[in-house]
Amino acid sequence: MENKTSVSEFIILGFLSIPEMKYLLFVLFFCLYVLTVLSNVLIVVIISVDDALQSPMYFFLRNLSFLELCFTSVTIPNMLVNLILEGSKISFVGCATQLYFFLLLGVTECLLLTVMSYDRYVAICIPLRYTAIMSKRICIQCSAACWAVGFVVAAGHTAVIFSLPYCGPNIINHFFCDIQPLLMLVCGDTYWNEIQVIVVAGVVLMLPFILVLVSYVHIITSILNMSSARNRRKAFSTCSSHLTVVCLYYGTAVFMYTRPKSSYSLDKDKWFTLFYCVLTPLLNPIIYSLRNKEVKGALWKLASRIFWMQGR
Ligand SMILES: *[C@@H]1O[C@H](CO)[C@@H](O)[C@H](O)[C@H]1NC(C)=O
Repeated sequence: MENKTSVSEFIILGFLSIPEMKYLLFVLFFCLYVLTVLSNVLIVVIISVDDALQSPMYFFLRNLSFLELCFTSVTIPNMLVNLILEGSKISFVGCATQLYFFLLLGVTECLLLTVMSYDRYVAICIPLRYTAIMSKRICIQCSAACWAVGFVVAAGHTAVIFSLPYCGPNIINHFFCDIQPLLMLVCGDTYWNEIQVIVVAGVVLMLPFILVLVSYVHIITSILNMSSARNRRKAFSTCSSHLTVVCLYYGTAVFMYTRPKSSYSLDKDKWFTLFYCVLTPLLNPIIYSLRNKEVKGALWKLASRIFWMQGR
């Protein structure tokens, strides 16, 4: 117990191993970050102002975009500063705060995606009861519940990880305070903590994943049973964007958080993490706006309104 809090700050290595690419990476990630923020803000704005986008699906999509906006902002700005300052320090509390928000947003996103797939299930399989089941109140309660569970899980997980003994070294070979690089720094046996991480990740990821899967089995069966090809195409197009986003999210999350520590390879994981910290939040709005006629229509409407205002 005596060595327990001998580490009071961590050093974030980031991408220090490739100093010659520092500025290139900075410019690249900076542009991607700006694009991500802009596209997600655009989705939030467009859903808020357009009357045609007032269905539950768009309510959840707006919440998802807002969440992605926060999610990238937890890690990327910090990483950009670290790229330039090289191996900057982060306090114990700062690191815990970052992990907390990272987990909060990650878990909430997972639950929100589940609620969204339930929404698609109701819309496609029991369309006559859609407005009754997915009332405004239910939507707000569902998304509030996702956030609440996210808060609780993230708080518990962060508390457990930061109550472990860290007695040096304190160098995090990653670009933010993620679970794996932190567990690598714990002194002593972390066997049970790894089990705990895997079990929590398993429950938090797998349970929603099974629900998503069940929803999609129902959705696909009912699409295949539709008699008219036109209805079939229409039903499929409303859920294909969501399905793409779900695959992106679960594909990366399950790979990252349900492995034992012995298989961590921080140098490789770092690059893989970029995929879901940088690319997924940018891809979501693109997937939803490019493949969705209603969103595209709303974008044109907004653009023409802006031009019209300027032309006056
Ligand atoms: C997301 O949902 C929560 C809970 O219902 C709500 O408080 C928040 O305003 C929503 N955010 C957006 C941008 O829709």
